[in-house]
Amino acid sequence: MSENTTLEKRGNFTGKIGFVLAAAGSAVGLGNIWRFPYLAAEYGGGIFLLVYIILAVTFGFALMAAEILIGRKTGLSAIGAFKALDKRFSFVGVLAAIVPAIILPYYCVIGGWVAKYIAVFATGKAQAAADGGDYFTNFISGTAEPIGWFFLFLALTAVVVLLGVEKGVERVSKIMMPLLVVMIIGITVYVFCQPGALAGLKYYLVPDFSHFKATTVLAAMGQLFYSMSLAMGIMITYGSYMKKDVNVESSVHNIEIFDTGIAFLAGLMIVPAVTASGGDMSKGPGLMFVALPKVFDGMFGGTVIGLVFFILVFFAAITSSISLMETVVSIVKDKFKLSRTVSCIIVLAICLLLGIPSALSNGGILSGIKIIGYGFLDFFDFISNSVLMPIVALITCIFVGYVLKPKALIAEAEECGNKFKAKRLFTVVIKYIAPICIVLILGFSVLEAMGVITV
Ligand code: TRP
Repeated sequence: MSENTTLEKRGNFTGKIGFVLAAAGSAVGLGNIWRFPYLAAEYGGGIFLLVYIILAVTFGFALMAAEILIGRKTGLSAIGAFKALDKRFSFVGVLAAIVPAIILPYYCVIGGWVAKYIAVFATGKAQAAADGGDYFTNFISGTAEPIGWFFLFLALTAVVVLLGVEKGVERVSKIMMPLLVVMIIGITVYVFCQPGALAGLKYYLVPDFSHFKATTVLAAMGQLFYSMSLAMGIMITYGSYMKKDVNVESSVHNIEIFDTGIAFLAGLMIVPAVTASGGDMSKGPGLMFVALPKVFDGMFGGTVIGLVFFILVFFAAITSSISLMETVVSIVKDKFKLSRTVSCIIVLAICLLLGIPSALSNGGILSGIKIIGYGFLDFFDFISNSVLMPIVALITCIFVGYVLKPKALIAEAEECGNKFKAKRLFTVVIKYIAPICIVLILGFSVLEAMGVITV
């Protein structure tokens, strides 16, 4: 959902439903369907799911409420909002603004993978792609193909943003999203009927505490921020357009249920599909592209179902990439006082610059280059989700907890007579639990990554 068109003027959201749908539209994307299932598979299944849900109802709730309320209180987006509340904290807005600029290029690389799989299923190569991994590995380790599909996805995103036709895309995506959910449920039911699925289901749903590590929490926290578009100023912008009489607390609950529900369903489909197809859980970013074609291969009408599935995922991805690009473009435009078109072109150039190495770093010609042990794509993913976002979240909590004070935001929430029921939870999470946990998680993960400790 793009902020500039959907939210032409402040207070544009007609009510709660409008607000929730717009925010959920931005939140639901590749994060839910592609990223969540592969992290859940990689980080121990049930234990990851449990940690994620605990974080979502505590951290996720408090941080999303705080961001929306900061936006609504100031009527400004991130950079302006922090500056207006306290000049010393202006840098948080800037730090938050960097995050979408790092995510967008590699988001388009993954979007390109989805586009490629539409082509695979449309041109009758579905069977070749169902070989348990080699087809996918060959594809991403190429040069022309990953770059070509990345260009295509980025170009489509840029054309929509440049021409300002987001409204049309959003209208289509409003039909596509519910279809996607129905389809995921249908595929899940099919997967459950396959031999071997039960092992995956158990792995996904039953927490095994022996799989618990500090990095599990870090990965779950990064995923939470990524999936709910937190710690990057997005929800502040959304909040700035929210009417004062809309209930923030229940809106946050609704967005969280939407976003977590879709991620949970995607995991429910993909993780058992891995065991049913005899694949392995540590496929990382390729998991969806390896496990699902195998499932489609065994299905009656699987080629068509696979094609429709990837088209629907493509829509979820492109609405998010449009929204990401809009965000970056409006930051560049406001900060450097440039026209929209020029800002667009600058953002496009940055995307190409950062996206090409990402496209070539997954077995391709640039995979030998490592930054602190990560290839380009993984590095951008790590630095945004596991470093910058936790830091932005930490400073936001400290700012709200000790400078602005939780009371000020609770008052904002209750301005028009809506009760803010979880006052105590909000205050305790923002002031103590979130900052302490973020510091601990970051500290432990650094030590773990350096091999100083093994948890
Ligand atoms: N939350 C989106 C997803 O799950 C990705 C995303 C992160 C995003 N930041 C964003 C989307 C900002 C729109 C705007 O895929």
